[in-house]
Order: sequence, then structure tokens, then C-alpha cells
Amino acid sequence: MKYKNFKDVKSWKNLQNRFLKLKNCDVRNLFTSNKNRFKEFSINFLDKMIFDYSKNIIDSRAMNILFKLAEEIGIVQEIKKMFSGSKINETENNSVLHVSLRNYKNKNGFLKDKNTELEIKKCFDKMKNFSIKVINGIWKGCTNKKITDIVNIGIGGSELGPQMINNALKDYKNHLNIHYISNIDNTNLKDVLDKINLETSLFLIVSKTFTTTETIVNANSIKKCFIKKFNNKNFINKHFFAISNNVKNSINFGICKKNIFKIFSWVGGRYSVWSSVGLSIMLSIGHKNFFKFLEGANKMDNHFYKKKINKNIPIILALISFWYNFFFNSATEVILTYSNRLNKFTSYIQQLNMESNGKNCDRNGKRITYNTSQIIWGGTGTNCQHSFFQLLHQGTRLVPCDFVAFVNGYDKKFEKHNIILLSNFFAQTKSLFFGNCDPFYRNKENIKKHCDKFYKKFYGNIPSNSIMFKKLDPISLGILVAMYEHKVFVQGIILNIFSFDQWGVELGKTLSNDIYNVLKMNNHKDYKYDSSTNGLLNYYNSWKE
Ligand code: F6P
Repeated sequence: MKYKNFKDVKSWKNLQNRFLKLKNCDVRNLFTSNKNRFKEFSINFLDKMIFDYSKNIIDSRAMNILFKLAEEIGIVQEIKKMFSGSKINETENNSVLHVSLRNYKNKNGFLKDKNTELEIKKCFDKMKNFSIKVINGIWKGCTNKKITDIVNIGIGGSELGPQMINNALKDYKNHLNIHYISNIDNTNLKDVLDKINLETSLFLIVSKTFTTTETIVNANSIKKCFIKKFNNKNFINKHFFAISNNVKNSINFGICKKNIFKIFSWVGGRYSVWSSVGLSIMLSIGHKNFFKFLEGANKMDNHFYKKKINKNIPIILALISFWYNFFFNSATEVILTYSNRLNKFTSYIQQLNMESNGKNCDRNGKRITYNTSQIIWGGTGTNCQHSFFQLLHQGTRLVPCDFVAFVNGYDKKFEKHNIILLSNFFAQTKSLFFGNCDPFYRNKENIKKHCDKFYKKFYGNIPSNSIMFKKLDPISLGILVAMYEHKVFVQGIILNIFSFDQWGVELGKTLSNDIYNVLKMNNHKDYKYDSSTNGLLNYYNSWKE
């Protein structure tokens, strides 16, 4: 076999044995038996982030076996392969080089390919010059008015990343209003059109393939609105831009070459926020902040590339996740962001993780019989505490959690809110792990309040990672996103998966085109599908007004 399976390496057996020792352990003992546990199980990342993984059902021996497993699987070699541009995306015959975008200053010299470096520089220069013109009011619309609104038309990786980052960095934004149209549901289009003036808006059609139905249909509808209003096509050069790898289709749409920003073929959609796909971010926060975001990611890349396995944050995150997936049968992982600005973060990581590792075929072409990607879900603290935390604390399923927080918000106004927010962040990880057996609850008053009835019992043992940053700023965000990207990469290698393709989305696309062609014929009766689909289509026809 070309690629190793984790079940064939020596450490797998050792890990199984270690699990038997730990599965019913009292997690308080992990702390009482090791006074240095926090120190040993945490990593300070450049004094910007603290990663604490001490509240996990794991000890040093289990961690060491996991490190050994990562080594036996060949993780270090795989990382080198990705960074040096090997075609690790085999099913699409492509390299995976989003890390090169963050290395645009070429400080680290991961890649020894001058052409790619020059292409990246050219692309960033073009984005920078363009964004300066728009922000400073030099770029004018077809009726010579300054630009006030930017509309990003794109879906999946062509929307989630830019929108998530622009939300997170709202405090850094300038005067431009940024909108996102992704859904084919026309209410998405309508809601944005209701807010903007075509004459002062720019439309970024973001699609690596420039074939994605939702994006092309939305873009065409907007083009039609322009034609209706201005009765000629001169507006296109002033208002429409393609961010794509498909120059031919962009030109066929009517976009001039000058208005095309290239997405490199070696950037996957869900890894593309660092590329020209991030143009709406650059327009919103300016090129300096955009490049700081890339700089943050580059710091994490450097760490990932150089640090030993046992000090490597993305590798540790992936190994812990693997531990719960295989030994504790955890089907899901929850991400809880203690920052309202990060309210789109979970959706972003959902695509990253589930589109990358939700696969049932291994790199040797064999059908997989073990569980691959966990289901990722979550939301913002403290809101989630008042909705689904009940299940985390007292449910019957073990759900490992990642808690993300920022000590300092951008705004110092209403500081009390921030202190309460962070108090919740600390309290939740502690309660989940130690339950109400913790000494805190051992005084009389608290026993009565929290432990006197069976339904007040908290067994604890719910693990979490705490990821706490000094500040929410472009650099921290770059660090955070790159950390998760690399975690997903390591998980993919351990699971023996090609993480950078997404063949699983194709079948539904093909069938929906077929059904669309049928639906276009009004009142078609004789459907050729299964009885459920035919039945629904018949209802559709009879209910359609
Ligand atoms: O259908 C899934 C997908 O290909 C994602 O991987 C991608 O992020 C999204 O669609 C959008 O693709 P494109 O940028 O080519 O429009």
C-alpha cells in the first residue's frame, strides 16, 4: 500500500491499551497527581495566544503514544510535501499552496519556485492598487459617482471566509458597506438590492470555477438590472469584477481582462480567503490590515512547519480530536467562540473540516470502514449557554469542545461586559470538566444549591481545549484560522484521506440540473424518478401559483 493506515502502525495497539486505563478515570486525579499539568499541557504562542489542552481526558503517556503515532504515520514528511508544492491533491492532480500566499514576503522560503512567488506578488499588487482607488474614491461608477457599496457574489469558500473575517474585523472597517449574496433563493438577492444603489456599487463575482449555478445566476440577474436601468453595456467595466481561475468564462460573462483577479489553481475554495477571494476583506479593512491577517497565518505556518510534534499546536489539536473520535466514539465537536464578532466562525470551520475530511474512501482507493470527520457545530458564548449547553453538561453523549476567547476586545467601552463574558468562558470549561465534584462545591451552601438532588448532579469529564488570545485583531485571526486549517490537514493524513478535493458535492449538482430542466417545462406530469421524488414534484406542480 502506498499510504499507511493508522491501524497498521505500532502505536495503535499501545493507544488502545492506554485508553483502557484512562476511560473511567476521575479527571480530578489528572490534576492532583500532576501539579505541573497546566504548564505541561499548554503552549504560549508568541505571547499572543495561549493554547490550554489540560482539560482533556488524557495523560502524558497517552499523549506520547499519540505523538509516536503521528511520527509513524509520517506527518513531518507530509507537512514538508505540502509546503514544498508536491501534488498532494492527487485526485485533482494539484499542489496545495495556500501557505505560499501567507508567505508573500518570502520570509520563510518554504517554496523554491520563483514563478509562483512572482505571480502571487503580481496578484496582491493588483488587489492593493485597486482597493486603494476604491477606498479613496478615485474609482468611479458609470455615472461618475464614488463607490459606497461592495457586493460579493459567491458561495461556499467564495463567501464563508470573506464574510466571517469581515464580521470579525468589523471594528477595523472603513466607510464602504460590504454585502454578500450566496444563496440562489431570490430573497438573498432582493434583500441586498433593496439596500444599495447600482450606480455606486461594485460587484465581485467570486467563483474559482465560474460555473457555480448560484453565483452565475445571481450575477446575471444583477447584470440584467443594470441593462434595464442604463439600456447599454458600458457599465460592466466600471461595476463588474471576476475573481476566478476561469478567465474564459469570466470574459464570456462580459468582464474585461483588467477586471479579472486570478484565483490560482492550487488554492482550494475553502482555503482561498488568503487569495484574491479576500478582495472584499481588503476593500473593507484596507490592504495593511489584510496583509496583517496573512502575517498572522504565516506565523502559524512557521510554527507548524518547524516545531516538534509534541510542541506543535495543530498536530496536538488533531491528535486529541482523533483520540475522542476513535476511543470515546464522539461523533461531533463543538466550537464555542466567546466573541460576538466571531458569530460566523463555526460555519466557516464546518466547511473546512467536513468538506475536507468527510470522506469514505482512503488514499489507497479503499472504502473506509472507520469514522472520518466529526460533525462540527457550535456558536457564540454566552448565547449557546442559554440554549444547548444543557446537553453538554448533562447529556449522555460526550462532546469535546473548543472554547475560543479574546482577553481584549477592540472597544474599551462597556468593559464590564467583557469581564462577564470572560468569566463565563473560564467557568464553563471548569464546570464541564470537573462537574460539581470540584472542591468549589464542597462548602455547605453550595452543596445545598448544587448537589442535594439527583437532577443537580454534574458528572463532569467533558473535555475542552481553551484557545485564548490577547486581542481580537487581524494577526490573531490569521493565527486562529491557519491553526484550524493545519489541524484539519493533520486529521486528514491520520485518517488517510485526500483532504483537498470535494467530489461528494458533485452528484447533487448534476441531479439538480436535470430536475431544473424538467421543472422548466411547465406542468410536466410524467416524472421518471423514484416515487418519493415524483410525489413531491407532483405536489410542487399542483401548488405552484
Ligand atoms: O460545491 C462545493 C464548492 O466547490 C466548494 O468547494 C467551493 O468553495 C464552492 O463550491 C464554490 O465554488 P466556486 O468558487 O468554484 O464557485
